[in-house]
Amino acid sequence: MSVTIILIVIMFIFVGRFLSKKSTNHSLCPLPPGPTPLPFFGCAIQMLLNKPTFRWVDKLMDQFDTPILCLRLGPSTHVIAVSSPEIACEFLKKQDEIFISRPDVLSAYLISGGYRTAVMSPYGEQWRKMKRIINREVLSPPIQKWLQPKRDEEADQVLRYIWNQIERQDSIVGGALINIRAVSQHFFGNAMRNIIFGKRFFGKGMEDGGPGEEETEHVAALFLLLKYLYAFCITDYFPWLSGKTDFDGHEKIIRTAIQNVRKYQDPLIDERIQMWNNGDRKEKSDILDVLITLENPKLTPEEIKAEFVELMMATIDNTSNAIEWTIAHMINDTMILKRAVEELEHVVGRQRLVEEQDIPQLNYIKACIKEAFRLHPFVSFVPPHVSTIDTTVAGYFIPKGSHVILSRYGVGKNPNVWPDPLLFNPDRHLHGEEKQVVLTDNNLRLISFSTGNVVVLE
Ligand code: HEM
Repeated sequence: MSVTIILIVIMFIFVGRFLSKKSTNHSLCPLPPGPTPLPFFGCAIQMLLNKPTFRWVDKLMDQFDTPILCLRLGPSTHVIAVSSPEIACEFLKKQDEIFISRPDVLSAYLISGGYRTAVMSPYGEQWRKMKRIINREVLSPPIQKWLQPKRDEEADQVLRYIWNQIERQDSIVGGALINIRAVSQHFFGNAMRNIIFGKRFFGKGMEDGGPGEEETEHVAALFLLLKYLYAFCITDYFPWLSGKTDFDGHEKIIRTAIQNVRKYQDPLIDERIQMWNNGDRKEKSDILDVLITLENPKLTPEEIKAEFVELMMATIDNTSNAIEWTIAHMINDTMILKRAVEELEHVVGRQRLVEEQDIPQLNYIKACIKEAFRLHPFVSFVPPHVSTIDTTVAGYFIPKGSHVILSRYGVGKNPNVWPDPLLFNPDRHLHGEEKQVVLTDNNLRLISFSTGNVVVLE
């Protein structure tokens, strides 16, 4: 028995050496700096011992004093972490075509219904088909304009809900307690359900306009999926173990969460398809109608179901997180709150409510949101981009198949880019050349929306 184990270990070491040599001999450039990987296991054992992984990766970048780090996980996967805007631009702007794909990992495979969707699928025919559809039929400016009444409706609803909360707590002198996280997460959940399915609630909702138990379960499951998507699941780096063991428990959690999302969404999709087939529905009034009636190319029910899980996830996290952190900073610093209120009074006044068309003029509030993007990204890393060929970036060899992750914390708090980086200072965004504050940063000095490559496709 022990001889067999020794033989297996020797075999793993041999295969590991062979694979790592194979991947580095391609070029004369070195791999980016990083911890020395063990044969076969790479740094996987260290990764398991240092949770949460994103903190460990950020710490390693500090320890190696490098804006680009290479971690080998398992026998052959290179994970490249980046925290400098210049190097991020090399990956995602100069060489964007090479880093266009996404990795083949269990979480993405399960959530995307077997790679049927736009965001998580690796590069290929399905990737192209779904990106085009999302670009044209969901994110395009005319569609966004068509959907504006639904967004306005939800803005009115959230005000009604907050008002009801205040009324209910009138014993508290001069105000009321509002759970900003719950309000903002449910606001975006309701808005997206309205935009996609034409209904805010799966069930009856609450009397005061708040979420019912169905919506609470739906939103909680979406956030659980977001937590486990691209979350360094160990079997991703030892692919032959996939399906044979759920070593770190990710698979079970993800499967249950998908079920808790799809048990509410899928029946609505089936019902609507039936209505179009029977001729009971003739007018399009939401994104579900748009995708069901697509002709060239058509979408299957399974593609629509998987895409809607992804879209619900993509729209609920960054948005609600930005609101939560912006308001938290305003509450902590009354001068910031005062300036924001003064701006609202000046631009909008007291006779009407804020409307979407006011946003371009609300420069100070946008600067506050941009500061929240910089300091408090919802997750540390942008979803991984994968290299489709061997290449060289910043003088380092990047092997084909590397998972490139931009550290939103690393870039946003980089002291070479941002003086006094930990200070929440909206004014730093007000002195640029543009008259209006723009929430994106083309030079990736902070990662708000990254390069927005969905829109680049056409
Ligand atoms: C505060 C709001 C938001 C922020 C900060 C944000 C940020 C991001 C970031 C950082 C990425 C990753 C890009 C990359 O892979 O390099 C992303 C991807 C994406 N976001 Fe957003 N997002 C926001 C809201 C939305 C909304 C409202 C939608 C849809 C209506 C949306 C749809 C998408 C899609 C479809 C992708 C995938 C892009 C791709 O794979 O090509 N996002 N977003």
